[in-house]
Amino acid sequence: MLSKEQQLKAAKSYVVAALTEAGVALEDDDGLAFRTRFEAQFPQLFQLFTTLYGEHDKCLEHLANLVVLAFKSWRDRADDLKELDQRREAQPDWFQSNQMLGAFCYVDRYAGNLTGLRNHVPYFQELGITYLHLMPFFDCPKENSDGGYAVSSYRHVRSDLGTMEDLRALSKDLREAGISLVVDFVFNHTSNEHEWALKAAADDPEYSGYYWIFEDRRMPDAFERTVREVFPDDHPGAFIQMEDGRWIWSTFHSFQWDLNYSNPAVFCAMAGEMLLLANQGVDLIRMDAVAFIWKRLGTTCESLPEAHLLLRAFNCVCRMAAPSLLFKSEAIVHPDEVVSYIAPEECPISYNPLLMALGWEALATRNVELIDQAIKRRQPIDPNCAWVNYVRSHDDIGWTFADEDAAELDILGFDHRLFLNAFYTNQFEGSFARGIPFQYNPKTGDCRVCGTTAALTGVEAGDTGGIDRIILLYGIAFSAGGIPLLALGDEVGQLNDHSYREKPSRAKDQRWVGRPMRPDALYDQRHDKTTTAGKIFARMTQLIAARRAAPGLAGNAIKSFATENPHVLGYVRSGDGQDVCVLANFSDDPQEIPADQFLEMAPRMTDLITGEPFHVRTSVTLTAHQILWLT
Ligand code: GLC
Ligand code: GLC
Repeated sequence: MLSKEQQLKAAKSYVVAALTEAGVALEDDDGLAFRTRFEAQFPQLFQLFTTLYGEHDKCLEHLANLVVLAFKSWRDRADDLKELDQRREAQPDWFQSNQMLGAFCYVDRYAGNLTGLRNHVPYFQELGITYLHLMPFFDCPKENSDGGYAVSSYRHVRSDLGTMEDLRALSKDLREAGISLVVDFVFNHTSNEHEWALKAAADDPEYSGYYWIFEDRRMPDAFERTVREVFPDDHPGAFIQMEDGRWIWSTFHSFQWDLNYSNPAVFCAMAGEMLLLANQGVDLIRMDAVAFIWKRLGTTCESLPEAHLLLRAFNCVCRMAAPSLLFKSEAIVHPDEVVSYIAPEECPISYNPLLMALGWEALATRNVELIDQAIKRRQPIDPNCAWVNYVRSHDDIGWTFADEDAAELDILGFDHRLFLNAFYTNQFEGSFARGIPFQYNPKTGDCRVCGTTAALTGVEAGDTGGIDRIILLYGIAFSAGGIPLLALGDEVGQLNDHSYREKPSRAKDQRWVGRPMRPDALYDQRHDKTTTAGKIFARMTQLIAARRAAPGLAGNAIKSFATENPHVLGYVRSGDGQDVCVLANFSDDPQEIPADQFLEMAPRMTDLITGEPFHVRTSVTLTAHQILWLT
């Protein structure tokens, strides 16, 4: 039996021989730069790969192919991207800056196509955006593609949106404007029209092995005993029947087929697609549906240990071939699971679905207990990582707080979710929210909520607190640490869009209510402060400017601040010699914080948002829904 070290050494010689055989010169400039990274990453990659695929008879061959692929991708990487790699390596904490501001939009719905989007770059810059997430724009099925999350090819842009050249041109414009491009890596599944899927459907044995396909119901039945139904409106269980009668795993829609990562060929093929994306000038990839990528019988098939190993292995490949590329995790799951993906070797950046959901929870209850508990307990992460704090995404809002956390505050998770769903879908008397229910599951009572920020905060319903609530929630996202993320169009108060109901392929997917077209008319009003759009825009830009000027808001460190008032959330952010005390009043009335709470602070403070002075020795009173950033 060879020792671990001997195995590693043997594997390395094998891989180096494969590189030589592939005509790779490790002695020229490219080769030397690659060699350094290969030396640094290989031991880790070898360990991960053999843990995942050691049993496979072609394990080493796949590993060697993977390294050859990484080298070729590095060799093909454009010079300006290699420069970027160097800059990022010299400043690995670049994304922790308080200058960071994220935003997301749909290419077609915001700007028609990729070229059209280039015209908006000056606006993005003016707003202060430094991170732009474009919803998937790759080739996908024509009728229904789950908003592009059913990718048919990463090698082609959807034809009505442009070409790969357009993508590179856009990414260059963005880079020159100081904006990082963020693109989804939908790696849990492909569309049923992907060439691999077409071959699998034609019973090609090699490609059938790319997916989870079974001849009869025995295995599907066994798996379905323990997995959750994500889109019960689309199909029950996790499997759907193929035309030839076989059964295939599809966690989401029936046209999204889950890839089988227990097959090393799938890992290598997807690593190739990932590196291709990186070389188009993508800075960050959003690891879509990351919790679902590994399956094992008898488990929930979510967040299994192997999911983490896979991410780490993908990450090693990137560090060799596209070192500046970073991963962002999309895990909208239990808070313990969310944090389990956050690590420099895994996903240094992650959505913060808990803080998002609890902001809405506090708006509905006018009580900050749960969100305060989350700030105390669930925010700390590795200082080299960052949360993405957002108010809403392009998806539904799910109440992902932990039942055990809620129980400590005598809140019953299940009942509380029922209340929140009723409240946000306007089935609770006095509610200001106009959301739409999504994926109600009668078997479990589960349901999620869709709608734009303006619709959920009361602007749509004409509630007087609507605008203040938008600023309150964004004021938290912009100050709670990490990278804040704006849903483009929210800064002018875009409303729900019900037109999806007329389109048969979308009618059953209520998430479209929160994905309106760029609200041109509202944008035209944005400099007119007599309009709702103008009022929201003025206050949003005020928040953004205040954030950019506040070094204390950089990084992630956050400390709860006791306000002694159940309606007012408090926390302190510190950085670069500045402490910022954030106070947020979730009630519909003015609220006071007693002077005693401020004894450790300077007697005179200023609200960074409005510049208003506060003499805290005589207590602080916040108006309804007011947020203060005191320093
Ligand atoms: C992610 C996306 C969502 C999509 C799903 C399946 O959760 O955000 O829009 O439906 O993945 O790809
Ligand atoms: C995500 C989540 C699920 C969410 C869905 C898309 O990955 O796990 O709760 O609703 O995909 O909206």
